[in-house]
Amino acid sequence: MGLEGETATYFKNAYDQLDDCKIQEDDNEQVLNQMVVWALLAFATARNGTTPLSSSTTTATATITLTPMVRYEQPETLHEIDTSSDPAYASDSMASTLSPGSTASSDDSGEPAAFAEATPADSGHKTVLVTGGAGFVGGAVAEALLARGDDVLIVDEVNDYYDVRVKRASLAALVARYGAARVRIFEGDVADAAFMGALFAAHAPQWIVHMAARAGVRPSIQDPFVYVHSNVLGTTRLLELAARHGCRSFAFASSSSVYGEGAAEVFSEDDAVDAPVSPYAATKKACELMAHTYAHLYGLNVAALRFFTVYGPRGRPDMAPYKFIAAVCAGREIQQYGDGSTSRDYTYIEDIVDGVVRALDRPLGYQVYNLGRGEPTRLSRFIGIVERCVGRAAVIRVCPEQPGDVPRTCADISKARRLLGYEPRVSFEEGIARTVAWYKETYMAEEGLPQQPQQQQEVEQQAAAAAATALMTAAAAKAQALTALPPAAVVVVEPHAPTAMVL
Ligand SMILES: NC(=O)c1ccc[n+]([C@@H]2O[C@H](COP(=O)([O-])OP(=O)(O)OC[C@H]3O[C@@H](n4cnc5c(N)ncnc54)[C@H](O)[C@@H]3O)[C@@H](O)[C@H]2O)c1
Repeated sequence: MGLEGETATYFKNAYDQLDDCKIQEDDNEQVLNQMVVWALLAFATARNGTTPLSSSTTTATATITLTPMVRYEQPETLHEIDTSSDPAYASDSMASTLSPGSTASSDDSGEPAAFAEATPADSGHKTVLVTGGAGFVGGAVAEALLARGDDVLIVDEVNDYYDVRVKRASLAALVARYGAARVRIFEGDVADAAFMGALFAAHAPQWIVHMAARAGVRPSIQDPFVYVHSNVLGTTRLLELAARHGCRSFAFASSSSVYGEGAAEVFSEDDAVDAPVSPYAATKKACELMAHTYAHLYGLNVAALRFFTVYGPRGRPDMAPYKFIAAVCAGREIQQYGDGSTSRDYTYIEDIVDGVVRALDRPLGYQVYNLGRGEPTRLSRFIGIVERCVGRAAVIRVCPEQPGDVPRTCADISKARRLLGYEPRVSFEEGIARTVAWYKETYMAEEGLPQQPQQQQEVEQQAAAAAATALMTAAAAKAQALTALPPAAVVVVEPHAPTAMVL
């Protein structure tokens, strides 16, 4: 970092403060980077009195290199994992404890539940490419496909958005249950042309369930570029390969977040969704547009599946259902964003998996489907249900509502009912009860102490957030003090390079 003058002193102090706060650990790299950019922007805005993105007199120079959260390896060739010899996939205790969360079927017969069907399913044996198969929904879909007799090729870069041991354990559990011949795992980036090109050249998958993505609204505000990379570039890469290799059915995960803030009471696929309120939502909308283009140009059958807040056993640790259950079980504080009146249409994983598999089996040109329940639950009621299922009162800290979050989601699922025979079965109370049971069985030791690997990470993240808030307060005060100075500074944030400069 090259620094000169008063600007330099300020940012050096800010940077040192970050060092003191110890928030430059790997997991918090994004927080650190974003804080530095915000501080630079706050400073330059104060000096300019207007937008920082204009030219001005150069008085000082500071160049800060920001490191992306994930360093992409670009394998030259196909990187298939030999799960029998790779120690990262050892069938350890975590893998075995994950098994109670099986989502393969909704009854004891091992068969998917049978519903009235509007469209005949292509029910022959399939080899399905499942991207994001190390993740929550992708892993559950892969398991359901394997349970009914299909084979899967799983592609996942196994990134550290959350604990990679959870992801590898989930993959290891699939291999242990169904065998390495039926579950083939390829670690890599779906956006990587060489890697994905080699995979399609070798296997030419005709059936694709594309779940790989950067998920989560708030982190997408901190680092939109990684979202554009995985979600937009990654989906385009797959669509291109799918079209070239004559894929028969391509089902991919979109999101209810595309509906944004101004949406109607009940969200219909016919609503206009051109006003996303987070980079994440914008990438999902972009994926839908690109999918439509490929359907139009090449006759590709693509189902864009707008999931409504998925939860359940093996759920994502960054999402409220998991976080609330983990915190209430441990007697830790939970953060309630807003006054508790916001509501979400929570959908149990088994119902989502059923919808994904139905869409895969019924290629119908380009279709958008809502996959939700159509019954939103208020945040305050949700916390009450968690308290009842855990058997313990929640310690609640009320926090301001978060930017990018929408106040309410509610799916109109009539189209999925009509064309797919989709029918969500699991009530929110039942789903939370099952998730609490899974959580306790998986992570609570005999003494009742939570053993989940995310706990330490959460504590560190909370400390980092507190440090970041302290820094922002300091940055705001300093920026305010500097408004009296003549305009002299300008910030250039280069959109494509992880670099920010004060000139
Ligand atoms: N869980 C929800 O409530 C929810 C709601 C709406 C939409 N979705 C969408 O559903 C899909 C699955 O979500 P999830 O909750 O299982 O998330 P997840 O984070 O558990 O799984 C996503 C997986 O994709 C992998 N991945 C990310 N970028 C990749 C890349 N470039 N190349 C290869 N692998 C990559 C990750 O390593 C991860 O294992 C995502 O597309 C998400 O946006 C989820």
